[in-house]
Amino acid sequence: MTNTQIITTEVRNFTSLRSYPSYITFEHVGKLPTCVDQKFEKNLILEESKIFYPKIDKLEAYFSSEYESLRFGAAQFCGFLHDTIAVEHSIVIPAIRDLYKLPFHIPVQPIEDLFKLITDEGHHAAQALSFINIIKQHFDLEICENGDKLPLFLRRLEKQKSELSSDLDKSLFTMIIGIVTETRISKELGQFTNNEYIISAVRENCSSHQHDETIHASQFRALGEWSWSQFDDEQKELAAELYAKTTIARSLPDISRIAFYMSQVTSYSRERCDKIVNKIFTPDVIREEMLIAARPTIFFLRKLGVLDFKVAREIFTKAGVTV
Ligand SMILES: [Fe+2]
Ligand SMILES: [Fe+2]
Repeated sequence: MTNTQIITTEVRNFTSLRSYPSYITFEHVGKLPTCVDQKFEKNLILEESKIFYPKIDKLEAYFSSEYESLRFGAAQFCGFLHDTIAVEHSIVIPAIRDLYKLPFHIPVQPIEDLFKLITDEGHHAAQALSFINIIKQHFDLEICENGDKLPLFLRRLEKQKSELSSDLDKSLFTMIIGIVTETRISKELGQFTNNEYIISAVRENCSSHQHDETIHASQFRALGEWSWSQFDDEQKELAAELYAKTTIARSLPDISRIAFYMSQVTSYSRERCDKIVNKIFTPDVIREEMLIAARPTIFFLRKLGVLDFKVAREIFTKAGVTV
């Protein structure tokens, strides 16, 4: 490479980096990612009156003992960990892996920094799996029904992706679901870490994940802002539609899984549990749950300008979300 070429490359990188949104890394904040510690749960320590998962008040009346309620919460938490594995392996890691397929330029440094996050996400999935196995064994639980290993939200997202015809649109979809996920995961973990009624081992597990996600959220927000600034009008229109659709798909609760877990821990039949759960989770309740889960992403989308697009507003309005 000649001197002129080196200077040209450096100037280009500097120009791009100058306008790429700022973000934090572990190095910036003087911390190490949790994968360095390789901390895995070895034992399950239960604590008197403490629970695994925030209770669904209306369901509690159907449990015949505190143990049934505790076991149901343990199953719910395993479901959350199972979703975490799917999020890491099937959403966030592919979003980083496929950055090179995107139809716009991303400066070198942010790509290198995003690549480093893959190690963290692999570790979170490994931590989730080992914790699931301990809880599952202790309470003798099945985590998936009918051998269905894919969480509902992932099945919904895969269907949406399969409806896109071009590889370019699919690559945008892969990036967008990564951004949607990483702008909300810290909030999801907060429902455990901020709740003093939750078992310490559960809070610690979620807290170590949350430690890393602060950095991830910052980097994915920057990617979201940068990509939006690079899109042409047509790409913005498509991205607005995908952001709205995937935010809803990611946020709808899995009612069927709640009934499945209830049928495992009570003497009620699966059909009876379905009826009970469907009666509690009315369309209004489901909409409310979805809104709570989607709120951090909607906040981000509003700031980005996505909600200025009619297509996005219409999708949210149709789902009962006022934006
Ligand atoms: Fe993670
Ligand atoms: Fe992450």
